[in-house]
Amino acid sequence: MPDSPRRLEVELGARRYPIRIGPGLLAEDDWPTLLRGRHVLILTDENVAPHYLAQVQARLGDRSVATRILPPGEREKTLARFAEALADLATMKASRDATVIALGGGVVGDLSGFVAACWMRGVAFVQMPTTLLAMVDSSVGGKTGVNLAAGKNLIGAFHQPNAVIADIDTLATLPPREYAAGIAEVVKYGAIGDAAFLAWLEAHADALGARDGDALVQAIATSCRHKAGVVARDEREQGERALLNFGHTFGHALEAEAGYGRLLHGEAVAIGMVLAARLSTRLGHAPAEDGERLATLLARLGLPTALPPGFDADRLLARMQLDKKNQSGRLRLILWSRPGSAAIVDGVEAAAIRDVLLGKP
Ligand SMILES: NC(=O)c1ccc[n+]([C@@H]2O[C@H](COP(=O)([O-])OP(=O)(O)OC[C@H]3O[C@@H](n4cnc5c(N)ncnc54)[C@H](O)[C@@H]3O)[C@@H](O)[C@H]2O)c1
Repeated sequence: MPDSPRRLEVELGARRYPIRIGPGLLAEDDWPTLLRGRHVLILTDENVAPHYLAQVQARLGDRSVATRILPPGEREKTLARFAEALADLATMKASRDATVIALGGGVVGDLSGFVAACWMRGVAFVQMPTTLLAMVDSSVGGKTGVNLAAGKNLIGAFHQPNAVIADIDTLATLPPREYAAGIAEVVKYGAIGDAAFLAWLEAHADALGARDGDALVQAIATSCRHKAGVVARDEREQGERALLNFGHTFGHALEAEAGYGRLLHGEAVAIGMVLAARLSTRLGHAPAEDGERLATLLARLGLPTALPPGFDADRLLARMQLDKKNQSGRLRLILWSRPGSAAIVDGVEAAAIRDVLLGKP
């Protein structure tokens, strides 16, 4: 039976789990029945808690509940916060059937997942994503972790959630830049694997810009279906899952060069996808018109599509050469041949990337 747009499954055998998408889910969905034990730790942040924490707490009945509200932002995704959350579980004497609930964006989700992965070597974990990026990307797939001073996401574990509850009503309070940044990842799924979805996004760009509920459910569900499919086929990124990095090698270099926080991840990915499409054209893989079409769509969705002034091509290139996906010093990038068709390409010449960064035709 095909999944409805509002209910999907991530097919991972005994670890399969549901993704639910729609309005009113925090207050109305039957998600509390998915919790097995008595102990629940809710992790959230200061921007999310005032709006949504009470409705989640109200559904937990007589369970033993601890809540930790973090300051917002990437800087909180640390070992120190991780240790504090584990201390909360210890204080409440949480047992092996405890559940960690992540109520927030990708920062809260990644941190909570890592806490759940480590407490007693792994307890249940429910993702309640409240950013568009978390709904379409970080809450699905089980990558968890924290940052070190030496770099982002350097410590972590694969630990799948037991459920993802994406209540689109929470997006009403998301700041516009954060919302647009999430849309970049939505566009990515069309770009790498679904030309029809890319055309749908072109047709519904205005509705998405206006945060129309039906368009959002459709866009999130389609994105999650793609991510869930990739994760089910390649959970540990041995192959296909790497395609999800389309635009990300350029994007990570841009983010790092800008200084974390100046360019949002999704904004950097939007620029990165346009650059990856241009590189594809330069290497003879794809027509230039496709890249221009992608840039037009991203711009309509409120995203940047060109390098902001002041970026140095050689410094960006040097950062890209440090990317952990490279093998034996040869650059590995995700390129496309046309919308909906991307591939991993090894041994890309640095000179070609440099030309693209310099805006040479
Ligand atoms: N695990 C994965 O597979 C994966 C994939 C992509 C990204 N990530 C990680 O996700 C993180 C980025 O996630 P993000 O973009 O969601 O950032 P975020 O969690 O920092 O949230 C962005 C901002 O929006 C605020 N916010 C969240 N929900 C809100 C709401 N409903 N209303 C008002 N404000 C709200 C937050 O407080 C924060 O200030 C990064 O750490 C990245 O490494 C993980």
